[in-house]
Amino acid sequence: MKKVYIRTFGCQMNVHDSERMLGVLRREGYAPVDAPEEADLIIFNTCSIREKAEQKFYSQLGRTRRLKRDNPALKVAVAGCIAQQQGAGIREKAPYVDYVIGPQNIGRVGDAVLGTEGIFTDDNPELARSDLPAERDRSVKAWINIMYGCNNFCSYCVVPYTRGRERSRPAENILNEVKGLAADGFKEITLLGQNVNSYSGDVSFPELLSRINDIEGIERIRFVTSHPKDLGEGLVRAMRDLDKVCEHIHLPLQSGSDRVLRLMNRKYTFSEYVSKVKMLREAVPDIAITTDIIAGFPSETPDDHKATVSALQEIGFDGIFAFKYSPRPMTRAADMEGQLPDEVKSERLTEILALQDRITEARNKALQNTVQEVLVEGTSGSEPEKMTGRTRTNKIVNIAPSGSVSPGMILKIRILKANRHSLEGEVIDGA
Ligand code: 5AD
Ligand code: SF4
Repeated sequence: MKKVYIRTFGCQMNVHDSERMLGVLRREGYAPVDAPEEADLIIFNTCSIREKAEQKFYSQLGRTRRLKRDNPALKVAVAGCIAQQQGAGIREKAPYVDYVIGPQNIGRVGDAVLGTEGIFTDDNPELARSDLPAERDRSVKAWINIMYGCNNFCSYCVVPYTRGRERSRPAENILNEVKGLAADGFKEITLLGQNVNSYSGDVSFPELLSRINDIEGIERIRFVTSHPKDLGEGLVRAMRDLDKVCEHIHLPLQSGSDRVLRLMNRKYTFSEYVSKVKMLREAVPDIAITTDIIAGFPSETPDDHKATVSALQEIGFDGIFAFKYSPRPMTRAADMEGQLPDEVKSERLTEILALQDRITEARNKALQNTVQEVLVEGTSGSEPEKMTGRTRTNKIVNIAPSGSVSPGMILKIRILKANRHSLEGEVIDGA
């Protein structure tokens, strides 16, 4: 049997794309290995969302040159967003790369390793209709694509260029795959899309949620990432009424300044965003809301930055991912005036993160002494004697050792202590 080593960078979409590539390669007789030295095929599934992610990949890629010298039969593939953006250019930088496979062509990784052709970066309108097999890494929670690509062209973002136009999977294909996952024992599914709530298959997104909610065996449904402009009453009602849809939404705000939001081409104002948050909190009182923030967008003034800081105070997110603005090739923002020095971006990012740490901690503290439903996922990485899982609101809970707790169980857990990034609790009764 041939051996493949996959190294994945970047978002959940990429992690799941790697699971699909592994599924495709399994059919060609490949099995995954954990060490690149043992592999016949090395795949880098790359990310180009920020420059840092790109640098990380190139420093890893350099090391494979030596592996290839030791083993001339070794094949090297570069997949993902950098592959799409640079295409054949990657081979100019690194001639030892055999295959370049863009995100729309992950299904062709089998053709790549069988054939002689090396560059797979064409637009692929069929991706949403091709039911690619997946070899999933975990056994309790599964990711599943429902739509691909992005039409939004936020001015800072490479995704529309690397993943192409929005294409939704037919509902029936999704439902069949979810039924299969339920039969395999998966308890939680996360619907994936760059702009998941703009799903426009043969049914609406709320209707899709409702049909998945009816599938026996699946206990929890999540979805990422939602765009505020596509968040309507239908989705809010679905979150309120469907028992399996979890009380969490990741809803990137990016900035609290209307001027910056306009430059980002986000298509909403801060007050529109706030009214969506209000609608969500009225319908689903315990909902956890998380977000993404970009610090130091071109021309961002100290006042724009202050608007972001006060937005964080006003909304009180459960958690955020915040990033320094990073100019990306092909994007409009990269050519905008007023690019800020790294020190300014760093300073603003630090302030944002420090403030949010306090907010996150306070929101977690409010859960002390409450009882939460936790889906047990496995042993805790940092404290192997404990099991770990997540609340419906997606907060990590480490569970004090107790006889029969095993992955896949849904338990009532009393929260004893709140840390900044996790909760600690004990079992009060099985579900
Ligand atoms: N610079 C910094 N952050 C970015 N993001 C996307 N593009 C950039 C960029 N050029 C962030 C956004 C997005 C998240 C996935 O990554 O906040 O929501
Ligand atoms: Fe990028 Fe905006 Fe599309 Fe998200 S919605 S992938 S930030 S262009």
